Amino acid sequence: MDMNVLVINGSPHKEGCTHTALMEVASVLNREGISTSEFHIGTQAIRPCIACGACAKTGYCAFNEDRVNEAIDLAQKSDGILVGSPVYYAAPNGSLCAFLDRMFFMKGYKFAFKPAAAIVSCRRGGASAAFDRLNKYFTICNMPVVPSQYWNSVHGMTPAEVRRDLEGMQVMRTLGRNMAWLLKCIDAAKPTVPYPKHEDRVSTNFIRG
Ligand SMILES: Cc1cc2nc3c(=O)[nH]c(=O)nc-3n(C[C@H](O)[C@H](O)[C@H](O)COP(=O)(O)O)c2cc1C
Repeated sequence: MDMNVLVINGSPHKEGCTHTALMEVASVLNREGISTSEFHIGTQAIRPCIACGACAKTGYCAFNEDRVNEAIDLAQKSDGILVGSPVYYAAPNGSLCAFLDRMFFMKGYKFAFKPAAAIVSCRRGGASAAFDRLNKYFTICNMPVVPSQYWNSVHGMTPAEVRRDLEGMQVMRTLGRNMAWLLKCIDAAKPTVPYPKHEDRVSTNFIRG
């Protein structure tokens, strides 16, 4: 079966360090017969979620002036999702967080059981905190998180520096191989292993009577 992974580049730099790391993962996926499409969030302003709740009814964000709703459809059609971000103050890029908040809030059911992974690019520090933050989008949405041989980060201020981070680049290639393996396992299991059944959601807001 033809499979595709949506690659979300959350850096303002279209072909910067984050892109360089993402493409190392993508090139392995491609070699394994899985196609990839890169989606750059761009440099235009991205609104934050205003918690209006409209998406609970429509399955889409109420704001249409940026590409969040397009990404929702692309992610729903894809077999896996890979997200990359530069590290800003030990966190993912704020624009990317705004983008992902609106993409995932109340719509995670659209992405359930799709393998997902995050990668981050930093100059020096804060990588694992940013990485953890991105993984939260997946683990709240029943998405299996693909592992690698280390926490998925590269180091550099320029693509050339990232390419010199040999261990970081190897972590990216391992991630690509692991993602391809998991995608193929899930695909092979489809005729015999049904997806898990969902219980009706229980939502308790830590209220004590
Ligand atoms: C606003 C801002 C904050 C940053 N904060 C950090 C940081 O906390 N830790 C770090 O190592 N690098 C930090 N950096 C550097 C970038 O994360 C790093 O150079 C990254 O590889 C750039 O990726 P890009 O080329 O895809 O934009 C920061 C850069 C900017 C612009």
